[in-house]
This record gives sequence, structure tokens and C-alpha cells, in this order.
Amino acid sequence: MSLLIRDGRIVTAVDDYRADVFVEDETVSLIGRGLDVEADRTIDAAGRLVIPGGVDPHTHMDMPFGGTTSADDFETGTRAAAFGGTTTIVDFAIQTKGQSTLQGLETWHEKAAGKAGIDYGFHMIVTDMEDDRLWEMRRLADEGVTSYKMFMAYPGVLYVDDGTLFRAMRKAGEDGTLVCMHAENGIVIDEIVKLALAEGNTSPKYHALTRPTRMEAEGVHRSIAIAEVAGVPVYIVHLSCADALEQVTLARNRGAQVFAETCPQYLFLDLSHYDREDFEGAKYVMTPPLREKWNQDHLWRGLGFGDLQSISTDHCPFCFKDQKVLGMDDFSKIPNGAPGVENRLSLVYNGGVAGGRLSVNKFVELTSTAAARLFGLFPKKGTIAVGSDADIVVFNPERREVISANNPHTHHMRVDYNTYEGTEVQGVAEIVVSRGRVVVEDNIWHGRSGGGNFIRRASFSGPF
Ligand code: URP
Ligand code: ZN
Ligand code: ZN
Repeated sequence: MSLLIRDGRIVTAVDDYRADVFVEDETVSLIGRGLDVEADRTIDAAGRLVIPGGVDPHTHMDMPFGGTTSADDFETGTRAAAFGGTTTIVDFAIQTKGQSTLQGLETWHEKAAGKAGIDYGFHMIVTDMEDDRLWEMRRLADEGVTSYKMFMAYPGVLYVDDGTLFRAMRKAGEDGTLVCMHAENGIVIDEIVKLALAEGNTSPKYHALTRPTRMEAEGVHRSIAIAEVAGVPVYIVHLSCADALEQVTLARNRGAQVFAETCPQYLFLDLSHYDREDFEGAKYVMTPPLREKWNQDHLWRGLGFGDLQSISTDHCPFCFKDQKVLGMDDFSKIPNGAPGVENRLSLVYNGGVAGGRLSVNKFVELTSTAAARLFGLFPKKGTIAVGSDADIVVFNPERREVISANNPHTHHMRVDYNTYEGTEVQGVAEIVVSRGRVVVEDNIWHGRSGGGNFIRRASFSGPF
């Protein structure tokens, strides 16, 4: 099977030129002007950007959490990702406390196999790591799971103490792998939550008011300090605010191997969303919470100056009607998380490139290339080059859509609301190719459940 994408504007993290891309089977085999080749199918990409498929390094499909399970599984979630131009996700497998991480990996393989419509990898969420289990971490890396996530938040659930953090970090450093951190002081936050509830403050807004930015900054500072002593690179996930970013910048300036992502919700939404009536603030209950609007300028600056390397979604959808209501009388029982895997490219293109904050190359870097490099997927993923996987998006930079749960062009996620409801965006993924196969065209799914492969990721190879 061959595919010719004719006359598009090819944009990678570093290139910007007009050419044809010839794909044979699953890989890009030729790039050039006016290619004289026969193809089974030709796509006219004139007037369109031809960009590498998005890489979303932070999703939670089919994840048991907050007394329920995230609403998208690997079938619905990866299909929705593809509609939005993302062709690879790295999802978080979970080690059940007291059990083997290898068992956790097995469970996530079972969830994804035969369902995922695009390629996927796994990080491993480590919930305990005694000395006699450390050998498992090398095995995980050999299986292509070359990054871990640990939580300073959610005591009694996913939280690990600093000793565990240090033990696992040391081993990860020895193995050449990367540690992702949910950096928030969950122990102090839980005390603040208790105080709020004791005073009768139960509404969704208190989710945000009980998680001060200083407690995120403290988690970022502490996790970086422990990582420096342990000798491991660290990647701060879902960074939400200026206070936390300051800690990343300080550490990077002294030469620490620290990387960080933010998410569209922190760039485009703010604290005022919790004021919505009829419990609708619960739709935005995620951790860390939305912050005061002024933080957004700092995050854009961090992206522009390179202290934030990547934009993920932290896609963790819970239906408003059936799941968010679990916390109707107590904000601490609202399942934490929000949908977004489908809308990332349009949101970032609109707010970044059309909004004059990012170059088009930086847009590709932030939504694809940087995550591919950090997480051992590059150059198969994250670029368009001879020999790379043919994960390609034909992106219309002029087309506009209004994101809505009721708009069949912008919402295929299995959740009854859209986090960005009513937002008009410029820039839409029109044709999406996953390893040489057209999986989305004319807003129709042409892929297949199980068409996505598990990707064994390489070890960390920075600094970049
Ligand atoms: O609220 C969030 N972020 N839910 C998903 C779990 C996590 O902390 O990433
Ligand atoms: Zn987290
Ligand atoms: Zn997450």
C-alpha cells in the first residue's frame, strides 16, 4: 500500500517547505518537490500544513480513580485522539499497591490490546517500591516502559513518601529512565481540605481553594531536589502556575535535568470556571486545579523560552451526570480529571500560532516532537523524515470550528461535556494518517480498533 501526499506545506519542529511525501506501507520513503512516483492513493494537500501526528504523553484511559473509572477506554479515547490529530499516546499504567508493577503492565496491555486505534506506549505509576521489588524497574525498561510516574498528591491512594520516591528515582537513574512527577504537597493539602469541609465549604470551587499554588511549587522544588541527589532526570507533569514554573526555571538555570509540561486547560481556562452554577464547576475539578488567569502569561512565556517543553492533555474524562455527581455534597469526592485528548492541536494552534504566541515550528515541537524525544519515540514518531513512521496530519490552518460536545466535528470523546465548550478555534486536523493508513478523513473514522500498536520506547537520551 502506498500513499502520496502532494504539495503540502511540510512543517516539523525545524523545517517549513513545500513538497510531496511518499509513504510506502507504514513509513515515509521519499520527500521531494514534484515526485514522479505511482501511488495507490494521492491526497492533494495544497493550502494545508502537513505535520507529524501529535504525541500526547499524558492520558488516562480506562483508569480506576475517585471511586469510578475514566469514561474513555482505549477504543473510544484513541479514536477521539485521532480525530484531533494525535497519532500516539503514552498512557499511565498503574501498579496496585502491594502488587508487582509487571502485573500492572499486564493489566494495561489487556485494556489496550485489540482496542487502541492509534499507537500507544505506557508509563508506569509506581505506588510502592520496596528494595526487593527494584529489579522490576529494569524489566519494565526492557519491555519498553522507560518512564515512571510518582505522586506526592492523593495520600492513601497513589501517594508515595519521599523515601519511596528516592529509592525509585535512584534505580530509574541507574537504568537511564525518566521519572514523571505529580508534584503537589498532598499531605498539607489534605489538612486544608479537612478544614474547608469542617467549615461547611463543600462546593467545587473549594477543590481549587484548598490546593494553593505554593503547595504545587513546594512539590516541584522537593521532587527536583530529590531527583538531583538520586541522579535522575525528572519531568514535571501538568504544571499549572507561575509559582511552580519558577521552581523549574531556577533548577534548569543551575543545570538540573528538569523538564516539564503544561496542558491546554491551564493555558485557556481559569479559576472563574468554578463559579458556574448548578454544580457545573465540577466539570473543571482536576488536579492541579485551574488557577487565577494571570498565571497563563507565565506559562506561555515558559513555553516560548523553553522551560516548559511539551503540552499534554492529562485526558481523564468523567461524565458530568453520572460521575462528577459523586461529589455533589463534598468537593473532595468529585472524581478528579477532565477530557481533552481530542482538542489539543486545535486549541494550541489557535491560541499559539493564530494568537501570535508561537511559531508554527514551535507548535509542532510542543504537540509532537518534544514528547517523542523525551519519551524515547523519536525519530519514528514526532517528525516527518525518510524512515520515520508515516504518522501524518493534513492540517487546515484556516478552517474554524466551535468546540462543543454537540459538534460532531470536535467531540468524539465518550463523555457528556466538553471542557472547552463554546471556544472557537482556527486550525483543524482534516486527514489523519497512522502508520501509513488514513484513519480519519471527512470527519469519518476509517481506522480500526486494534489497529494501534504498543510501542516499546527507548531509554531517555537527553539532555536536549
Ligand atoms: O485531575 C487529574 N489530573 N486526574 C488525573 C490523575 C492525575 O493526577 O494526573
Ligand atoms: Zn497527576
Ligand atoms: Zn494525569
